[in-house]
Amino acid sequence: MNPLNHVAIIMDGNGRWGIKNKNSRNEGHKAGLITVEKIIKESIKQNIKHITLYTFSTENWKRPKQEIKYLFKLLENFLKKKIDYLHKQDIKLNIIGKKSFSNKLNFLLRFAEKKTIKNKKLQINLALNYGSKNELIYAFKKLKNKNLTMNEKNLSKFLYTKNIPDPDILIRTGNTMRLSNFLLWQIAYSEIFFEKKLWPDFNEKDFIKIINKFKKIKRNYGSI
Ligand code: IPE
Ligand code: IPE
Ligand code: MG
Repeated sequence: MNPLNHVAIIMDGNGRWGIKNKNSRNEGHKAGLITVEKIIKESIKQNIKHITLYTFSTENWKRPKQEIKYLFKLLENFLKKKIDYLHKQDIKLNIIGKKSFSNKLNFLLRFAEKKTIKNKKLQINLALNYGSKNELIYAFKKLKNKNLTMNEKNLSKFLYTKNIPDPDILIRTGNTMRLSNFLLWQIAYSEIFFEKKLWPDFNEKDFIKIINKFKKIKRNYGSI
């Protein structure tokens, strides 16, 4: 049975779910948050140490202003409401991506990170304004400026994920088979699961099914 430390998730399909069920993309984002809570709880039960949630990509700035505004309001309210609960559950919150939002949200994100920094049960890496290409270019530049040898170990030191093991599992919901600029370096050997369900319809049972499948996979890493 494979050990499982880290699950990364591209939570896709909120917009389509919202249009289909409530005639509003934003309602889909709201419903998606309920799935986030279910997956957090199940991750604790499964004793998973890291989950990384793709919440907003560097490309998502291309969306209509009102949708972006709604998404960040949702995040702000979620943090305000849940930070004490997350802390009590021994959950550590870590943001990957550049914090260049409103002063209020930047402050709230830093506050949440600081408050939960010593927590040990589960680390939630929220990928916010995250793009893998940006992350890699930044790391390459750092290596060059510091005159360091260009190798895997040195490069990894300048990624947002520097203290995080690579994902064992990558899940993308929403019936789309692409990576959308998510953790391109880190998923070199991840087991990838594309899930037909839209994110708000995804649940603990679907998550457990994937975990059980993963546990039985023969992971070769190039060997036999
Ligand atoms: C993913 O769901 C959530 C974010 C990108 C914030 P989408 O909003 O991309 O949902 P679809 O793909 O349009 O259905
Ligand atoms: C990826 O989903 C980003 C997040 C889930 C946050 P998108 O819906 O933005 O991806 P594309 O644009 O369809 O590739
Ligand atoms: Mg999408």
